[in-house]
Amino acid sequence: MLYPNLSVNDAGHLTVAGHDTTELAARYGTPLMILDEAVIRSRCRTYKGALERFCPAGSLPAFASKALCFKRIYEIMAEEGMGIDVVSSGDLYTAKAAGFPLERAFFHGTNKTDRDIRFAMDSGLGYFVCDNAAELDAIEAEAARRGVRQKILLRLTPGIDPHTHAKINTGKVDSKFGAAIETGQAEALVCAALGKAHIDLRGYHCHIGSQIFEHGPFCDAARIMLAFTADMARRHGYLAELLNLGGGMAVPYVEGDPAIDYVANIAAIGALVEEVCTGHGIKAPAILMEPGRSIVADAGLTLYTVGSTKTIPGFRNYVSIDGGMTDNPRYTLYQSAYTVLAAGRMKDTPAGEYTVAGCCCESGDLIQENVPLPALSRGDLLCVLTTGAYNFSMASNYNRVPRPAVVMLGKNGPYEAVRRESWEDLVRNDC
Ligand code: LLP
Repeated sequence: MLYPNLSVNDAGHLTVAGHDTTELAARYGTPLMILDEAVIRSRCRTYKGALERFCPAGSLPAFASKALCFKRIYEIMAEEGMGIDVVSSGDLYTAKAAGFPLERAFFHGTNKTDRDIRFAMDSGLGYFVCDNAAELDAIEAEAARRGVRQKILLRLTPGIDPHTHAKINTGKVDSKFGAAIETGQAEALVCAALGKAHIDLRGYHCHIGSQIFEHGPFCDAARIMLAFTADMARRHGYLAELLNLGGGMAVPYVEGDPAIDYVANIAAIGALVEEVCTGHGIKAPAILMEPGRSIVADAGLTLYTVGSTKTIPGFRNYVSIDGGMTDNPRYTLYQSAYTVLAAGRMKDTPAGEYTVAGCCCESGDLIQENVPLPALSRGDLLCVLTTGAYNFSMASNYNRVPRPAVVMLGKNGPYEAVRRESWEDLVRNDC
C-alpha cells in the first residue's frame, strides 16, 4: 500500500489506521473526508525536530493553513508547538476561534485590506509577511495610530523555477507575489521598511513553489536569499534575524512517486545555511518553513459512494460518484494524479480502466482517468488517497453541493472535526 497506515482486512475492505473504511462510510455518510491525526502530528514533529536539530536556534515550522483550514487543525498545531501561515482574515479568525497563540502566526497575501490589518493587530498577530510598498505604508499607518512597532517579514522573489507545475509556481521574478531581488525592488522595499518608525523588520520570506521532490531548489533559494541578507547588512547595516523559506516539500500521490526524506532535506538546507553564512561572514538567521501539503496531504483520504457505471463502446468506462470537483477540484484544475481504490472490494481483480466522474454539471468534473477498478455497482465505495491538502480548503458549493464532513481518526477513535454541510446551510445567507 502507498502509506503505512493503510491495510486490507479479511473482508477485503480498505482500512486506515485500523478503521474499516466501509464502516466509517456507513456511520458518517459519503462523500467523507477522513484524516489520520497521528500522521499529522508525526509530520509536525518531524519538521519541528529537524529544524531544531539542523538549523539555527529559533527555527520553526509554520503550518500553511491554505492546505487545510478548520478549528480543530489549529488546536492540533497549537498542541504541537507549530507556527501557522494564514492568508486571509478568515484563516486568522478560524485560528483565533480555536485559541491558537497568534504571536506564532504569519499573515500572507498580496492584498491585505485596511480591515485585515486592523483585525490582525486587534487579534495580536505575530508577523505580517508584507508583500509590497503600499501595504507597508498601510501597516505603518495602523501601527503608528496604535503607538506600537509591528513585526514584519518582507516577501521577496528569489527568481527560482523549481520545475513544478506552472500554476503553482510562485517564486519566479514574474510573479504576483512580493518584490524581486533581481530588479532592485526588494532592496527598495527593505530601505522603505527600515525608514519606518513603527515597522519592526525581522527578516525575509520566499516561497518557490509546491510539490517539490528534491532539496536542491530550496538550497538554491536559500543561497540567493542569504546573499541578499549579506548584501543588505553590508550596504544598509541591517542583518535579518529570520529567513522564511516557505513551503513546498512534496508528498507521493501514486506508486512510483519518489519517497521523501523530510529530515534529510532539512539537514541539507541547514548545512547549506551554515556554510553560506560562514562564507559571507554573517550570523545565520533562524529558519522558518511553511509546510502545508507535506503536513496533511497523505493524512487524508476521501470516500465516495458509486452511483452508476457505464461503458461507451469503443471509448471508455465511467464510474460516477457522489462528490467530485466540489470537494476535490485538483484534477479539474491541474490534472493531478491520485490513487483511487475500490475500498470495499480490495481483493477483487480489476475489470477494466475507469474514468471517475464527479456529480457536477460540468464535463471537466473528473477525479481521475484510466483507473484500474473491479466491476462496481451502485452503492460500492470508492476511496481517493492523499486528499488531506488542498481539497477541503479548496472545496466549493458549485451546483449547491454541500461540503463533506471531515472525520478525524484520533487516539480515542473517530470524531467529527467538521460537520457535513446541510441544505439549510446552503441557503443560510440567501436574503
Ligand atoms: N507558504 C506560501 C507562501 C505558499 O504560497 C504556500 C503554497 C505554502 C507556504 C505551502 O506550500 P506547500 O507546502 O503546501 O506546498 N492549490 C495548489 C497548491 C497551491 C500552493 C500555494 N502556496 C494545489 O492544490 O496543488
